[in-house]
Amino acid sequence: MSKAILITGGAGFIGSNFIHYYQNKYPDRQLINVDKLTYAGSLNNLTEVENKENYHFIHGDIADINTVEAIFRDYDIEGVIHFAAESHVDRSIDDASPFIHTNVVGTLNLLQAARADWEAKGELPERRFHQISTDEVYGSLEGSGKFTEKTPYDPRNPYSASKAGANFLVQSFGHTYGMNVIISSCSNNYGPRQHEEKLLPTIIRHALANEPIPIYGDGKNIRDWLFVEDHCKAIDMIYHHGKVMEVYNVGGNNEQENLTITQLICQLLDDRRPDLLQAYHLEHFSDLITFVEDRKGHDKRYAIDAGKIQKELGWQPEIDLENGLRKTVEWYLQKWKTNVPI
Ligand SMILES: NC(=O)c1ccc[n+]([C@@H]2O[C@H](COP(=O)([O-])OP(=O)(O)OC[C@H]3O[C@@H](n4cnc5c(N)ncnc54)[C@H](O)[C@@H]3O)[C@@H](O)[C@H]2O)c1
Repeated sequence: MSKAILITGGAGFIGSNFIHYYQNKYPDRQLINVDKLTYAGSLNNLTEVENKENYHFIHGDIADINTVEAIFRDYDIEGVIHFAAESHVDRSIDDASPFIHTNVVGTLNLLQAARADWEAKGELPERRFHQISTDEVYGSLEGSGKFTEKTPYDPRNPYSASKAGANFLVQSFGHTYGMNVIISSCSNNYGPRQHEEKLLPTIIRHALANEPIPIYGDGKNIRDWLFVEDHCKAIDMIYHHGKVMEVYNVGGNNEQENLTITQLICQLLDDRRPDLLQAYHLEHFSDLITFVEDRKGHDKRYAIDAGKIQKELGWQPEIDLENGLRKTVEWYLQKWKTNVPI
């Protein structure tokens, strides 16, 4: 049995981008992708890799321990890169239970199955568990300052609380059992293959359909924006070269208000689809921006200090906001032109 990396949640946004990135960079390495295919996951994100010999898809729920144990029995899992999660804050505010089920129980199952398998093989010190986390575990920033790896956790919504809980479990398996765990916490990703409920696809879809573009509150909430391919490169570096038991923050060095991001996307669409502007009798797509009631407990500002990963691993984002947004808009326009829903 050849060794394989277990990717969880690889049919989602970041996981699928990572699988593409990893398969291109290391075409001979084995990847196993387990995904429950919730509303957020789609095999359409993986059509380019689905027939490759060194890629295997398992339709399964990480919160089901039998499924997880079977994967470790059937494959020689040399490491885990754990993306699978319920990931949408608004949904966690409506109902937190699926977030505990997947993000906490699912993570625990993976840790337990990995530990049992790696201990039985006498290889616990050689194998790695990489937890993909979020800057939201650090809470919200008012005014200046940035989150560092030492910022205490202060999750403010059920999603970030479930991710913080999962991170504590991951760290505890490192301390208690000597597992080689590593955590990376990243800022807001954007790019191709993101689920339609997230901000960028929502803006593009509404603009192209001549519908109001909904923006929470006054649009002044600030996020740090990271192009997903830059994030994939960071994960590759952290998984292979990061120090175990460490946390790495990954950010795009790109703090922007939600409103600014929306206006930039509208400008890109103005340039690319003047025909639609004319058809809709609009001067600019930004005319469609409509402020709606703010999200409950909406965190004001997130900002990442990514100095540690830059210093230790030499990673820094390569794609600036202008380029990243252009690539993203092109990708969605392409999809839209072929009548695939965005
Ligand atoms: N998207 C971001 O901006 C962002 C930012 C910071 C951190 N993260 C973290 O990155 C990871 C990936 O985020 P994403 O945006 O790609 O999420 P996503 O919602 O697009 O994808 C999640 C994937 O996990 C799968 N999944 C959900 N529950 C599962 C279960 N019980 N068993 C197996 N698979 C399951 C879904 O089917 C989906 O394919 C998450 O852990 C998230 O917390 C995301």
